[in-house]
Amino acid sequence: MMGKESDCDGVIPLQGLDKGVLLERLQALSSGDIRWREHRAFALVYELSDEHTAFLQEAYGLFLATNALNPMAFKSLRSMEREVVRMTANLLHGDTDVVGVMTSGGTESLLLPVLAYRQRARARWPWIKRPEIIVPESAHPALMKGGEYFDVRIVRTPLTADFRADVDAIRRRITSNTIAIVGSAPCYPYGVVDPIEELAGLARERGIGLHVDACLGGFLLPWIERVGRALPTWDFRVPGVTSISADLHKYGYAAKGASVVVYRSMDYLRHQFFADADWCGGVYASSSLPGTRPGGAIAAAWASLKAIGEDGFMDNARRMLDVSQRFKDGIRAIPPLEVLGDPPVGVMAFGSRDKRLSGFAVADFLGERGWHVDRLQHPESIHLILNPGHEHVVDEYLEDLRAAVAHVRAHPDASLEGSAPMYGLVARAPMRRMVKRNVLKVIERLHSGAGDGTDDATHLPAPLLRLMRWRARAARLFGR
Ligand SMILES: Cc1ncc(COP(=O)(O)O)c(C=O)c1O
Repeated sequence: MMGKESDCDGVIPLQGLDKGVLLERLQALSSGDIRWREHRAFALVYELSDEHTAFLQEAYGLFLATNALNPMAFKSLRSMEREVVRMTANLLHGDTDVVGVMTSGGTESLLLPVLAYRQRARARWPWIKRPEIIVPESAHPALMKGGEYFDVRIVRTPLTADFRADVDAIRRRITSNTIAIVGSAPCYPYGVVDPIEELAGLARERGIGLHVDACLGGFLLPWIERVGRALPTWDFRVPGVTSISADLHKYGYAAKGASVVVYRSMDYLRHQFFADADWCGGVYASSSLPGTRPGGAIAAAWASLKAIGEDGFMDNARRMLDVSQRFKDGIRAIPPLEVLGDPPVGVMAFGSRDKRLSGFAVADFLGERGWHVDRLQHPESIHLILNPGHEHVVDEYLEDLRAAVAHVRAHPDASLEGSAPMYGLVARAPMRRMVKRNVLKVIERLHSGAGDGTDDATHLPAPLLRLMRWRARAARLFGR
């Protein structure tokens, strides 16, 4: 049995192993993963149904070996990609000028606009030497990554009390170096939609771009609107929105490795293209970040949209509204818990209104009951990404949540036990640069021979942890 990573011997066997045995080993390996099939996880996996997943496997398999690097070689992929982009543009109310590409995921769909806005600024405003893009604090870190990769300064601005982008704070940070603004629909941490219309007004006033990160909402919110739920407008209907990212592998229920980035016109998209006419290997060109692009992901995404259809997406939207409302109502009925902001559907975070009841201790209790819990650090809270299948577990989850709150109330020291203090300390640790350095060290360990790196989930040096623990205990002792 190869049930743990430590069982991996790092050896390519002399002779190939029996495929049946290997498939069994793969099954065994996955047994230690989060229990998403039983709907015990609230992150990472977006799933419509077993039947849909089996269909995606088949569609992916048909194009497993194909490569969209050369669009002339696989006309099939070119036509599927064009159609996926067109379907996305139409869904987001783009006109025929809207153009885009498929990418490997949300991160690439955010890296590319950072690059495109930078390149466009270089061409149009060559005097800008230090380009800046302004993003609300809740925007996805892939934008920071893009800033680091492409040498663009990403300026983070605070949120309003309802966890949405603060338009005035963004306005105040606009300088002559600002080349674009970003808003989310919705943002990952709180699931709330930023005030895109106001941000677009600002972008138009200043003649700069506005990217809407709809990686989460791109294939969900349009259908929510179609089933009659009013939402603020955030897509290409809003003049001033110049690009949108939308993940197929999230609520488009495609296989992993599929997203779209669309721009209002070629005037933006062309700035992310690359060509090398001088390589001895031949003229090389590409429209996005990778070289080889897996055809399977394109085929499965195309097949997913076509198989679900309008009816299927609207049915999913109703189920998602229903399951989201059940979670929200249930959480709100357990004092002192509160849902943060007003997330419309699918994604939300909740925490404790009473600082004496630790959200992280509640999370620990849920973990012990077999739920995979994701934690947010500002404020201390629990994160949920819902799939329609969560309708089967909502009552059980809420029952465990009630029990968790009762347990933490009865055992106030729970916040000083288990992993709760670790998460709390990491969230509150001063010297964020040191936290960052330590996280990078953990990644180094993950990619070296020295253990799997997961032994140090705190990312903090032991003496600092001891000191902070001591401070937390003292603060509790003196009731502060
Ligand atoms: C709003 C948002 N943008 C971007 C991303 C990055 O997507 P990916 O993990 O597919 O790269 C995510 C991921 O959850 C997201 O929620």
